[in-house]
Amino acid sequence: DWIMGDYITEAVQKIRAQVGDEEVILGLSGGVDSSVAAALIHRAIGDQLTCVFVDHGLLRLNEGDMVMDMFVGKLHAKVIRVDASELFLGKLAGVSDPEAKRKIIGSEFVTVFKQEAAKLTGAGAKGAQWLAQGTIYPDVIESGGAKSKKAVTIKSHHNVGGLPEQLGLKLLEPLRDLFKDEVRELGVALGLPHEMVYRHPFPGPGLGVRILGEVKKEYADLLRRADAIFIEELRNFKDEATGKSWYDLTSQAFTVFLPVKSVGVMGDGRTYDYVVALRAVQTSDFMTADWAELPYALLKKVSSRIINEVRGINRVTYDVSSKPPATIEWE
Ligand code: XMP
Repeated sequence: DWIMGDYITEAVQKIRAQVGDEEVILGLSGGVDSSVAAALIHRAIGDQLTCVFVDHGLLRLNEGDMVMDMFVGKLHAKVIRVDASELFLGKLAGVSDPEAKRKIIGSEFVTVFKQEAAKLTGAGAKGAQWLAQGTIYPDVIESGGAKSKKAVTIKSHHNVGGLPEQLGLKLLEPLRDLFKDEVRELGVALGLPHEMVYRHPFPGPGLGVRILGEVKKEYADLLRRADAIFIEELRNFKDEATGKSWYDLTSQAFTVFLPVKSVGVMGDGRTYDYVVALRAVQTSDFMTADWAELPYALLKKVSSRIINEVRGINRVTYDVSSKPPATIEWE
């Protein structure tokens, strides 16, 4: 719209003035903030921006391809896709503690990103001088002070603090003054699909914390397929009263892989396969959350589709725990 159009013009001018003819690197995760930052910076400086997309193998079904289709196919941005799934799975082998998994995923992520960044900054040629990040206003406040008062870390959210200094790069943060809803509006105005910009949050460690205990490729593949069915049906099912989809009526919804087997029956045979849990919550701040009262018809459809379409899963459960005392994620 008109106001957002003015905002974009101004932001673009500001980025051009800051960056001049220098080069910028940005870590693209597929999440809302880094995507909108990438689209805005690309609008401003085109090919002076290189996005680095580290695929840790713990993304959702087809997510990596969708990111590439969007940024390379539609926006014609420069994106380096690093397929590091084997590296990550290797490092995670035998590790089952949730915080240990987070630390490994976070530190490998930084290592891989730094290696790619070094290729773009070093080697004599005039390399990148800027690191762009999708920091938004609530992140700025959060890292401002209250942090030290927190007595216990329940879950360590990996963020890449200190990276620009380590890489010797200047920091470009064009979304620093914006709240989440403004970032979303900006994304839509820049031409990003509504569906991408209004997605539920997805944790940095991805499916790594949605597979309980040790992460294995087999588990990740089963989980991806089950979760895609759940999300598809949430988008399909509309609430009659509001006309909204159950995806839009929930704040976060996903599938959790439980590495236990239970007995089932299929046709004439007995099955002994894995279990998944569906999780859907409603919340305004993610500090507390209620489990969502999804319609039985929706749960029924999801359950029968997962069990019929994903060989290897024979039981689907629904998580009816609120936060607190449970957390939103299972790890
Ligand atoms: P919990 O499970 O703590 O989740 O109730 C609250 C919100 O935080 C997200 N979450 C994470 N995000 N890295 C992230 O980037 C993490 O390690 C992580 N752990 C939880 C979770 O998805 C929910 O939105």
